[in-house]
Amino acid sequence: MSPPDKKTIDRVNSLREQINHHNYLYYILDNPEVSDAEYDRLFDELTELEKKYPELVSPDSPTQRVGAAPLEEFKTVRHSLSMLSLNKATSEVEFLDFNRRVLELSGVGDEKIKYAVEPKFDGLAVEIVYRRGVFAVGSTRGDGVVGEDVTQNLKTVKTIPLKLLGKSPPDLLEVRGEVIINKEDFAKLNRQREKEGEELFANPRNAAAGSVRQLDSKITKSRPLSMFVYGIGRVEGVKLSNHRESMQYLKEMGFKLSQYVELCDTAEQVKDFYDKLLIARDKLPYEIDGMVVKVNEFALQEKLGELSRSPRWAVAWKFPPQQETTKVKDIIVSVGRTGALTPVALLEPVRVGGVEVSRATLHNEDEVKKKDVRVGDTVIIQRAGDVIPEVVKVIESKRTGKEKKFVMPDKCPVCGSKVERPEGEAIHRCTGIACPAQIKENMAHFVSKGAMDMDGLGYRFLEQMIDKKIISDQADLYFLKKDDIMQMDRMGDKLALNLLDAIDKSRNPTLTNLIFALGIRNVGYHIAGVLAKNFHSLDNLARQSKEELTQVYEIGPILAESIYNFFHNPKNLKILEKMKKGGVKFPTEKAPAKATPISGKTFVLTGGLDSFTRDEATKIIEDMGGRVSSSVSKKTDFVLVGKDPGSKYDNALKLGVKTINEEEFRKLIRK
Ligand code: IVH
Repeated sequence: MSPPDKKTIDRVNSLREQINHHNYLYYILDNPEVSDAEYDRLFDELTELEKKYPELVSPDSPTQRVGAAPLEEFKTVRHSLSMLSLNKATSEVEFLDFNRRVLELSGVGDEKIKYAVEPKFDGLAVEIVYRRGVFAVGSTRGDGVVGEDVTQNLKTVKTIPLKLLGKSPPDLLEVRGEVIINKEDFAKLNRQREKEGEELFANPRNAAAGSVRQLDSKITKSRPLSMFVYGIGRVEGVKLSNHRESMQYLKEMGFKLSQYVELCDTAEQVKDFYDKLLIARDKLPYEIDGMVVKVNEFALQEKLGELSRSPRWAVAWKFPPQQETTKVKDIIVSVGRTGALTPVALLEPVRVGGVEVSRATLHNEDEVKKKDVRVGDTVIIQRAGDVIPEVVKVIESKRTGKEKKFVMPDKCPVCGSKVERPEGEAIHRCTGIACPAQIKENMAHFVSKGAMDMDGLGYRFLEQMIDKKIISDQADLYFLKKDDIMQMDRMGDKLALNLLDAIDKSRNPTLTNLIFALGIRNVGYHIAGVLAKNFHSLDNLARQSKEELTQVYEIGPILAESIYNFFHNPKNLKILEKMKKGGVKFPTEKAPAKATPISGKTFVLTGGLDSFTRDEATKIIEDMGGRVSSSVSKKTDFVLVGKDPGSKYDNALKLGVKTINEEEFRKLIRK
């Protein structure tokens, strides 16, 4: 192979520059300029050229983020300047103590001290050494003096440049920062691990640390890592005189900085920043556990020096912990507005992240079982943002043997209706249409368009009626008198009459609207229509067994179960009776007036058809008074067999059910 010519070399360099630039825009600035496809084209072209001319491959080429062969063990790296740890402050008083010491020791007036403030990232501390602008060695902090050589791994992290930006790189630059995983990526990673049966990471910090400390860098590459820089080690060839300036410099070199870095002139400003960051904390996409306050001027830092491996010029002002230990006093079940039953742990109150917590969600039955939370257990709870605190885990060593296991009730704790847990779902639900926990939502659905369509009855009105106990279920609406309505706030004669009129008009629903209005789980408007077409009346629908329901095309076992459960809840039936008494007409949707050759016949479809989609064929059959079922039984009249039929065809032959092809079907429907 001939050596590369100048044109090729120039092209390789230009490609690298373009790719580095796009990487920077994408990963650091979150502001890409080209599509992924375009980026891939550049990358592929470079890969091809490097394959053709291996002598052109260089360690700072963007193609080198691939991960290398697994290591037996990590080599160690001695940091040329120790990576110190930080003293902590956990209150304003402790921070003010730090501030006072800084002022005393530095001997300058307090107007002279500037503090650089930034988040304390919760990840893994690393150092990267750049020689003449090129990534040379990457290491973990380790014990601060000696760390592990994770060069190959860190090279796979996209927010770490392999080559510094800018035309004149310094001879030496040691960059320090924290490798992290975003909260959202962390959740995704754990979901994936759960699916694959792998052990879950406890938190984003562990996930980040575990991902960097991998002997196989291909694994590191597959993890969504990024790095925020927060400091420098040794530097040669550039003069930096304070923290702020060095951060600005790192930014220009292509590193990622938190948007929350500021310079404060006074201790009060630091406190304000703390308050601001504490509020911003939950909205940040990554985890932070406090803020770091650093004396800005390097000269002053030096003067202040360090004491037992921690600098006297910096402090980590930690946020209140968001995890705490407490005891489970009881486990109750709360019923949500949609009827979902959630087990909730009642706790001995503790302060978590500055807020008193006395209950924590256990999500669902499977979670309680998985975490094995029992009444009397000592547990770790966690609070993140505005979300309800949750139980993280049980401290089993604190068990006395007197703890009581939790059992999910089979009746709704609010209304006593039967509870259902559809197959494949994690949530138990109450089947009561007028369950007080759900009545407001169910009622709003009941009166809405497509359901009973009571114009003018808004949520606020219904809520008031329910709160004032004027109505307690859907049927009560049909017994309202003008005087009842007049009790509402801001009600007038005319409005009251309009509402009564709207209620009256709704007494003649179509069957589809009526079925939809009942709010049976998973029965949307379309399915309500399918049920109406197939069963012709509410009474008939209510009589069907689960098996009969699943005979209908589009009705699967989960839907059949919820329909069945609805009509086998005596409370629901009572309300339907009451509705009738209130004057609601339960319509009968007749089979098509004209008898057609397929009225009342049941079809099963299998295989592909030429001139109809399956849905079209279904619609034709239903419009002509027939029914489409999803499985073949002795009751099936025709199995319509298309191309490449499935097992339904075999079943038809086995059961001796009549099969017809598309041609015969067309004759039957005369199309
Ligand atoms: S400065 C001498 N800044 O905290 C100063 N550290 O307890 C040394 N950390 O190992 C570190 N965010 O992992 C600094 N903005 C930040 C930081 C930060 C997180 C971690 C870092 C370090 C530990 C020190």
